[in-house]
Amino acid sequence: MKFSSSVTVLASALVSAILLGSSSVEAHVTANPSVAVSGGYFQSNFRVPHGCDGNATDSVTVEIPKGVSGVKPKATVPWITNINMVPLDTPITTPTGTINTTVGSITWSGGNLLDSYYEDFGLQFKLPVMEGPLYWSVYQHCTNGAWNNWTNIPDASGKTAGFPAAVITVANATTTDGHGGSASPSTSSKPSSAVGVFQSMATFHSVLIGAAALLMTMA
Ligand SMILES: *[C@@H]1O[C@H](CO)[C@@H](O)[C@H](O)[C@H]1NC(C)=O
Ligand SMILES: *[C@@H]1O[C@H](CO)[C@@H](O)[C@H](O)[C@H]1NC(C)=O
Ligand SMILES: *[C@@H]1O[C@H](CO)[C@@H](O)[C@H](O)[C@H]1NC(C)=O
Ligand SMILES: *[C@@H]1O[C@H](CO)[C@@H](O)[C@H](O)[C@H]1NC(C)=O
Repeated sequence: MKFSSSVTVLASALVSAILLGSSSVEAHVTANPSVAVSGGYFQSNFRVPHGCDGNATDSVTVEIPKGVSGVKPKATVPWITNINMVPLDTPITTPTGTINTTVGSITWSGGNLLDSYYEDFGLQFKLPVMEGPLYWSVYQHCTNGAWNNWTNIPDASGKTAGFPAAVITVANATTTDGHGGSASPSTSSKPSSAVGVFQSMATFHSVLIGAAALLMTMA
């Protein structure tokens, strides 16, 4: 029937649009979730989507951007998790003594993540007070000795060469909180405008999936 076949075509077009949309995201190392509130505590998973030219990943290091504190890695079995400390530029004086070091990077090693699988390397941390993109360099090492160093950031024209760094978009919750919200935003605060945009995108995505599913049923 003519109606039903055009519906099928439309449904498959929608499905391909959705699939293409997600696969382009998964080609690079990404932070999930990736929209956070300035100055708040946050948890994100750094997703390694593939190996090095088909070879398995045996170590992953996530470098902690300056200003990010209170870092705690997720113990990811069977990986060995190392917390690598670096000296603080400005030591912090507390009632119980001086803090001279901070977490510089986290390394998960001793794994064997095949190219046909992905893995999420989780971190929880406190964000600095800032607005805009926060870039995270991720160093991926593979069993063939190759490195994928995800360290590149966009140039002035917005293009990123080679292996892009993971990014978390940090927004200032207090600017868009029409309720005169809290002065110390946390991840549970009212969504900021950037969070709102991402939520609308997510909603749009679900609407597309819903429409595709409905059309499939009709076809
Ligand atoms: C591993 O990577 C090398 C290039 O470094 C490539 O020639 C080889 O085919 C890859 N091995 C597998 C199993 O994909
Ligand atoms: C930090 O450095 C100061 C000055 O060198 C020293 O007195 C203090 O004991 C150090 N604190 C820690 C926790 O190592
Ligand atoms: C966040 O918004 C508040 C209120 O508008 C402002 O005082 C503060 O400077 C902003 N912080 C940043 C990092 O932009
Ligand atoms: C990737 O980073 C590692 C660790 O810093 C370094 O030893 C290696 O030379 C880098 N490789 C490339 C291709 O950038």
